[in-house]
Amino acid sequence: MIKVAVLGLGQMGATHVEAAQASPYVSQIYGYEPDEARRNERAAELKITPLTLEEILADESIQMVDIVASNDAHVPLAKAALLAGKKVLCEKPMGVTLAEAQDLLNTKQKCNGFLQIGFELHYSRMYQIMKEWIDAGLIGRVVNVAIRYYCSEFHRANTWRSKGTGSFLISEKLSHYLDLQRWYYAGQEKPASVYSISAPKVVSYFNHRDNHQISIKFSEGGIATLNFIMYSASRYHKDPLQEMLAQQAQDGHCLSCLICGTKGVIESDVFNRRIRRWQFSMVESGLENQIVENISFTPEEDNYYFHCVKEQNLRVYELVDKGLPPDVPAEDAFETMRLCFAAEQSEDSGEIIRL
Ligand SMILES: NC(=O)c1ccc[n+]([C@@H]2O[C@H](COP(=O)([O-])OP(=O)(O)OC[C@H]3O[C@@H](n4cnc5c(N)ncnc54)[C@H](O)[C@@H]3O)[C@@H](O)[C@H]2O)c1
Repeated sequence: MIKVAVLGLGQMGATHVEAAQASPYVSQIYGYEPDEARRNERAAELKITPLTLEEILADESIQMVDIVASNDAHVPLAKAALLAGKKVLCEKPMGVTLAEAQDLLNTKQKCNGFLQIGFELHYSRMYQIMKEWIDAGLIGRVVNVAIRYYCSEFHRANTWRSKGTGSFLISEKLSHYLDLQRWYYAGQEKPASVYSISAPKVVSYFNHRDNHQISIKFSEGGIATLNFIMYSASRYHKDPLQEMLAQQAQDGHCLSCLICGTKGVIESDVFNRRIRRWQFSMVESGLENQIVENISFTPEEDNYYFHCVKEQNLRVYELVDKGLPPDVPAEDAFETMRLCFAAEQSEDSGEIIRL
């Protein structure tokens, strides 16, 4: 069994701690926050042992660290941990610039360390089913992956998130979905160029842009689009008479992924809790298309189908305990970061960026 230290004990840090507490592979959990009083307070709340960063890095019995600090701290912490011989699970983004992400990848390669970046959608049953259908050839060759993500504002005023500048949101949040698009084309095509635009921002207290339309052209002609708006849906105020997703499905929220292939189409729809597949057939008069699979799930199954940080972490602790390599190599996560920063560069320059 392994000892794990969680660096960053904010909201997501608590989720990492809960996953470690649920893992049969973890014997002890430590926590670190830079401010001593906050460190002790959060450690008490989360029922873990507070330590300083120096203590964590020096203790050889702590094999693994989870980095769940604000984004600017990811790479300095991950490099220090790798150089101290720790295995590292680091939240996305892999760095706040491409140079930083490259620096982290170089460090990992030089010390032949274990580094997995938290692109947890790979562990979501919803997105895994779609990947399995693609790999089984059920929709033929993928030609278009279109993602729409419309939501309410979730970067509150005066936080490190709302203070992020430029196209910060792309690597902070949309990286999950660009990563998904790369995953669905994996083994078939690679991103070749990206063009992204953003309309004037609407949320006045953001330092960063609040809407993005990202178009990717892949090496063999396939395309992907990601359309994101962060103010089109009602804020959820914990209506006691309505379950959260049931309300959000009707109030402007949308998180759907439509994958078109040469033999059919797949769609995931988070707010309607469903995954569907259409199959093409050719009749004399032309193309027919019909739904052949329709999977739905219940609120109790949300964690399994799409909130999957816990599933990711449980698996990574198992990998570390068994001495196995990451499921998703850091080299692959780096390619997603390359795409994120190219989209940002495109918005800044107004040009198509070739990868
Ligand atoms: N994978 C996902 O779906 C997902 C979801 C939410 C957040 N995240 C990521 O998790 C990270 C944390 O997000 P959050 O929502 O918990 O934010 P948060 O603001 O609630 O917590 C961040 C914590 O990091 C601490 N911190 C700052 N600098 C630090 C340092 N040098 N060392 C250690 N701790 C430090 C802060 O004091 C704070 O407690 C972010 O990188 C975010 O992108 C990922």
